[in-house]
Amino acid sequence: MCGIVGYIGDKNCVPILINGLKRLEYRGYDSAGIAVIFDHNSQIVKNKGKVSLLEDKLESLHLFSNLGIGHTRWATHGIPNELNAHPHFNSEKNLYVIHNGIIENYQTLKKGLQKLGYEFITQTDSEVLPHLIDSFLKKGNSLFKSVQLSLNEVEGTYGIAVVYEKEPDKIIAARKGSPLVLGIGENENFVASDVSAILSHTKQIVYLEDGDIIQVFKDHFSAKTILDKDIEKEIHEITMTLDEIDKGGYSHFMLKEIMEQPESVRNSMRGRILFDEGTSKLGGLENVAEALAASNRIIISACGTSWHAGLVGKYMLEQFTRIPTEVEYASEFRYRNPIINKGDTIFFISQSGETADTLASLKESKMRGALALGICNVVGSSIARESNAGVYTHAGPEIGVASTKAFTSQLVVLSLITLLIARKKYMSIVDGKSIAEELSKIPDKIAEILKLNDQIEEIAEVFKEAKNFLYLGRGYNFPVALEGALKLKEISYIHAEGYPAAEMKHGPIALIDENMPAVFIAPKDSTYDKIISNIQEVKARRGKIIAVASQCDNEIDKIVDYTIKIPDTIRILMPLLTVIPLQLLAYHIAVKKGLNVDQPRNLAKSVTVE
Ligand code: M6R
Repeated sequence: MCGIVGYIGDKNCVPILINGLKRLEYRGYDSAGIAVIFDHNSQIVKNKGKVSLLEDKLESLHLFSNLGIGHTRWATHGIPNELNAHPHFNSEKNLYVIHNGIIENYQTLKKGLQKLGYEFITQTDSEVLPHLIDSFLKKGNSLFKSVQLSLNEVEGTYGIAVVYEKEPDKIIAARKGSPLVLGIGENENFVASDVSAILSHTKQIVYLEDGDIIQVFKDHFSAKTILDKDIEKEIHEITMTLDEIDKGGYSHFMLKEIMEQPESVRNSMRGRILFDEGTSKLGGLENVAEALAASNRIIISACGTSWHAGLVGKYMLEQFTRIPTEVEYASEFRYRNPIINKGDTIFFISQSGETADTLASLKESKMRGALALGICNVVGSSIARESNAGVYTHAGPEIGVASTKAFTSQLVVLSLITLLIARKKYMSIVDGKSIAEELSKIPDKIAEILKLNDQIEEIAEVFKEAKNFLYLGRGYNFPVALEGALKLKEISYIHAEGYPAAEMKHGPIALIDENMPAVFIAPKDSTYDKIISNIQEVKARRGKIIAVASQCDNEIDKIVDYTIKIPDTIRILMPLLTVIPLQLLAYHIAVKKGLNVDQPRNLAKSVTVE
C-alpha cells in the first residue's frame, strides 16, 4: 500500500529517496512525491503515476539537500492525482508530512481547523496533519511536541514522517497501526515503512511500536510514546540481502517466487522436523504447545490467499488432531462479535503481517483472552509482534502482489503445527514418521512440477482469451481450487470461480459450454472416482477441461483436453503440489495478455487499510 522513506545525513537525499521509493513500488501505489529541506528553505515535487516520472521531474531541478521525506500513495480518501499525493504541507509551505493509514476523525479535525482559519486544498484525510501540527507550532511548541500533541487528537491509523524548515536538523516519525522502521547509519539515519526501502544503506533497524514517536537526527535518535513516556528502543541486525529482493534473472518477481518454491518450502521446514519422533519442533510455539494441544477449538483468521491456506489447515487439523477448527475471513471475524471461549486458540495467518483486518481481529481476540498465535512471513511485522506466540514461515521476501511461495510455506507450517498437536494427542509415531518423511520429499517434487513450465505455457496460449474459468477440486484440493481461481483473476483479470467439485451441479454447471474452461484438480486419492464423474458432467456439456492429475493416471488423458501430470504424495500434503501448476497457468495467461503481473491493477501487496 502506501510507502514512506526519509533521510537525514551528509549526503544528497534526493537519489536516496527516489531509490527508496522504487524499492517500495511493489506495494502498489498511484502517485508519488518528495519534500526536501535546505538552507531554511524547502521544495516539494509530486506527481500522479510512477516514481520514474517523479525522477524525471527532479532531474531538471538539480536539488541538493541533506534532509527529505518521500512517499508513494495508494488512494483511500480522494482520487489519485498530484494534488492528493503526499507530502502534504501547511499554509506557509514550510512543514511537510507523509502519512500511511487513515485518519478516521479527519472531518471533525478539519472543521475545527477551518474555524481557526486553516484552508484545505486536497480531498485527503492526511492533510489535517500538517495543519494540526502547525496549530501547535503557532502556540510556541517545538516540532516534536507539536507532532506529539497532534497525534493525541488523531483517531485512526498512521505511520508518519514530518520535516520542518525551522527545525532542519531532524525528522519526526511515529506509528500507530501502520508499519514504520528507523534505519541507523554512519552520520546518517533513515525512516521507512518497509526495510527494503533502506536496506542498501543500513542493516541496523529499530522497529517502532504502536504509540511510539521518535526524533531522528543525523547522528542519534530519541524515542518516547505519544503520551510522553520515555522508552528504550532495541537495534536489530537484519540478515536479509538486497539480492534476495531482486528479480534474480526472471522477467517477473512472481515467476521468480514460483520457481523459488523448492527452496522456500525447504526453508520453512528446515530444522523443524523431528524424524525419529515423527513430530515437529517449532521454537516459537514451545511455551504454548501444551495449551495449543489442549485447545477445545481452533479458529484461523486471515484474508485472501492466507485464508485459503487456513482452509487447508482446517482439513489438516480436523483430520489429525480432531480439534474442531473454523476458518474466518478476518474482516468478518473482527466485526461480527465472534464467540470466543476459554480454551480457544486463534491462528492469524498473514504473509505481510500487516493486513489491517487480520491485525484488528488479532487485537480483538487478545482483548477477549484467546491464545493468539501468528503465522507470518515478514519478521518483526505487526501481527508477528502482537501475537502471544507464533511461527515464521521463512519463505523469504515476496514482492509479487500475487502470493505464491508464501502460500506453500504457510501450508508447510500448518502441516508442522498439525504434526505437533496430533502427536501429542492421537497420532502414532509410525503415522507421524510417515508424514514427516513425505513432507521432507515435497521440495524435490515441487522442483519436478516446475519442469512442466513450458507445457503449462502452451496450455496458457490456448486459453488466454477465455472470459471465464471454473476451478474445481474436492477435499484438500477444494481450497486449492479457490486459490487457483484467485491467482487467475487477480493477475489476468479473467473472471474465475473456485468450487468444491460436487457443488458444480448445484448451480455453476449452468455456465458450462464450449467457451468455459474448467480446471479440475484430480489426483488419485479417495475422491478420484467422484471427481471423474464431475469431469464427465462438464465434458457432456462440451466444456474444455484441464486436469491436474497424478503421474500414474493413464486413464484421465482419454477424457480431458489437457493434463498436467504431477508426482504423488499423501492427501494432507497434496495442496503443496497441486497449487504449483495453477500458479504457473495464471502467470503465463497474464503474461500472454501483456499485463503487469507483479503489480496488477487496483491491488496492493499489503492491505494496511480496511
Ligand atoms: O499479507 P497477507 O497474507 O495478510 O495478505 C492477505 C491478502 O491480502 C493476500 O493474500 C492477497 O489475497 C494476495 N494478493 C493474493 O495473491
